[in-house]
Amino acid sequence: MTRILITGGAGYIGATAVDMLLAQGHQISVLDDCSTGHADTLPNSANFVKGSLLDRAAIARALEGCESVIHFAGKSLVGESVAKPDLYWSVNVVGSRNLLDEMRISRTSRLVFSSSAATYGEPKSVPIPETAPTSPTNAYGATKLAIDAMISDECRAFGLTATSLRYFNVAGALKSKRGWLAERHDPETHLIPNVLKSTSENPVKIFGSDWPTPDGTCIRDYVHVVDLIDAHIGALAAIANGNIESGNHEIVNLGSGDGYSVKEVLNAASLALGIEVPHLDSPRRPGDPATLIADIAKAKSLLKWRPTRDINQMVADAAQAQQNPKIVPRF
Ligand code: UFG
Repeated sequence: MTRILITGGAGYIGATAVDMLLAQGHQISVLDDCSTGHADTLPNSANFVKGSLLDRAAIARALEGCESVIHFAGKSLVGESVAKPDLYWSVNVVGSRNLLDEMRISRTSRLVFSSSAATYGEPKSVPIPETAPTSPTNAYGATKLAIDAMISDECRAFGLTATSLRYFNVAGALKSKRGWLAERHDPETHLIPNVLKSTSENPVKIFGSDWPTPDGTCIRDYVHVVDLIDAHIGALAAIANGNIESGNHEIVNLGSGDGYSVKEVLNAASLALGIEVPHLDSPRRPGDPATLIADIAKAKSLLKWRPTRDINQMVADAAQAQQNPKIVPRF
């Protein structure tokens, strides 16, 4: 079995990948500075290097013995990226540059990267294919787009083989042997965790009910985190079996291909919780596009992947994870 470096493996999505890949028999190394991740999500069987992507020596240590890399680590809040673009360009872009340089030095030649639908910006039409124009509306999306360009150049010049996966809205949770791997962001800005925390004293805000959509609320494409990691496993397999040719860089959208409005998410949560979720109509959030839906034809054909968990399961699993936050400590 191969050893895989997972950067950002202590975060919500990264920890889910660590668990699923260990369960498949892979050896795992994790590089995470725990600035937003949680070390208690990491099992002892993963080799853990606590360090930042801005520390080249830490990257080199984490890469020892690895054949491939799944690169999740980075700053990922749209609002924060507008207020602190310097932080995003430094951690995301300089950090990824360091990773690519250390991968070249250590001859680690396979990469799967967490890119984002934020690279597209306000779409001209939906569903959005990978060929759509990229015009990010915030520093977060701009840094992900810049990293995608760096990876393409690295592949062309130095023979790296890579896949950038452009995530739409990731939700749900994995129930691992050690407990539910919940989203634990502080502050929490994402819709589904906020809906699940909603109380009559502190109701979840609906950011705009006057959007040009059938019920007036924003539509997003939600994908279950377990399905999302299955696609990463599919990307590694496609690189290993030559379905993605050596030296190529493929860009692939990951979503469900379906859109749900904020009100539809609220209804799914009310169903899962058995209560009407309290909510408050609020003004639009700056920077939100009305509708984002992925065209996932390429993920289906290239990665041999299909999302299998619907919005009701995402909400139900996220609710379970939030209600059962205890993770068995490292073993
Ligand atoms: N929303 C609310 N109330 C909340 C939180 C969100 O109404 O308390 C609405 C938002 O306005 C939006 C939708 O719910 O219409 C989803 O919002 P999220 O904050 O959950 O997610 P975003 O679509 O803003 O962003 C997510 C990721 C980004 C990624 C983007 C790509 O967080 O990193 O998807 O589609 F870039």
